[in-house]
Amino acid sequence: MANRTIVKMPGDGIGKVVLEETLRVLDSAGFEADYVEGDIGWEFWKTEGNPLPQRTLDLLEEHKIALFGAITSKPKDEAFDELSSDLQEKGLVYSSPIVGLRQHFGLDICLRPCRTYTGNPLNFIRRGVGDVIDEPEVDVAIFRQNTEGLYGGVEWSDPPPQVYDALMTHPKFQQNFGDSPKEEISVSTRIFTKNATERILRAAFEHAKKYSYKSVTVCEKPNVIRETSGMMYKMAQEIQKADFSDIALWNTNIDAQMMWLTKNPENYGVIVAGNMFGDIVSDGFAGLIGGLGFACSAQYNPETGVGVFEPTHGSAPKYADYPVSIVNPIAMVESACMMLDFIDEQDIASKIRKAVADVVAEGKIRTYDMAKMRGKADVVENGAASTSQMANAIIEKL
Ligand code: IPM
Ligand code: MN
Repeated sequence: MANRTIVKMPGDGIGKVVLEETLRVLDSAGFEADYVEGDIGWEFWKTEGNPLPQRTLDLLEEHKIALFGAITSKPKDEAFDELSSDLQEKGLVYSSPIVGLRQHFGLDICLRPCRTYTGNPLNFIRRGVGDVIDEPEVDVAIFRQNTEGLYGGVEWSDPPPQVYDALMTHPKFQQNFGDSPKEEISVSTRIFTKNATERILRAAFEHAKKYSYKSVTVCEKPNVIRETSGMMYKMAQEIQKADFSDIALWNTNIDAQMMWLTKNPENYGVIVAGNMFGDIVSDGFAGLIGGLGFACSAQYNPETGVGVFEPTHGSAPKYADYPVSIVNPIAMVESACMMLDFIDEQDIASKIRKAVADVVAEGKIRTYDMAKMRGKADVVENGAASTSQMANAIIEKL
């Protein structure tokens, strides 16, 4: 078959390893595709001054579906120092290529499921009544608005006069910042549009309906951030009333949610949030099901069908040079399963998910995180599974 082409974007550091291991798993599960490589990441910043070259955008435009490993980002000054010397005079500014990808293709829906794996030694536990240890089952799907809000990139230090003057027309700005010199002011905006807010809310409700979740929780801060969070919650109320009256709508504040998720995580179903709070709450829930080695994500544009599937961990540069890779590939494998769902290959996705669940439940093969070791080059000698051994174990189950 193989008339499908997938763009593989390994990126930096361990992104390369987990992606290659995941391709082996896909292959063994009988998924047929051709792969083309998309350049992205630090290497291309250093040599070309652009971590997301146009040729990569073109590839994704053409083939629509990408598997993405991870990228390295460094602060402004370091980014400049590492830029090849002939590019240093060009006034180039580094910006995150993954945020760039989201914006370029309008990948405004980000889904991050966090489900407990039976038998995972990293599962969250808590002390219950009479000091019994409970291991609540977590099954949460987080919908993060992926293009707007604090990630919209509309920000200034020492804002231009028109911006400053416009801000000064707001009584609160005058009152709270009117005495600060303009040069000492930095502004990062948090802009929400109705269109994108409605899209993420509807995606969340549709998902709840399709997979029989009982509730959708808007996780924002409408009591303080009245305009943006307030708009999201109000729209959620309208949408629920009109089209999803069987599903309960809850409203939590991001701060309280971060506390509650360690008290009653089993109570939540679908969670929906703006960009920054979605980023925060998805890491929070990921911590309950094993952390970054298990946290997968899908980001897509339902209209164009462009989708990028990635683990939410970073490139972990310090682990990248170990002679034997030690990182847990499960987050990348699960992200590939989300890709399979997206392209209607649910049968293969289920097969792989079951294989992963079986390996975790059996507990014979555990990467260093699952074995609760510190991440060091010698963990494999001390009994932890390497990245490839974990992939092999999954393949064997297949
Ligand atoms: C994520 C990451 C990114 C984000 C970074 C790498 C820009 O934390 O995908 O959650 O903040 O969105
Ligand atoms: Mn994040």
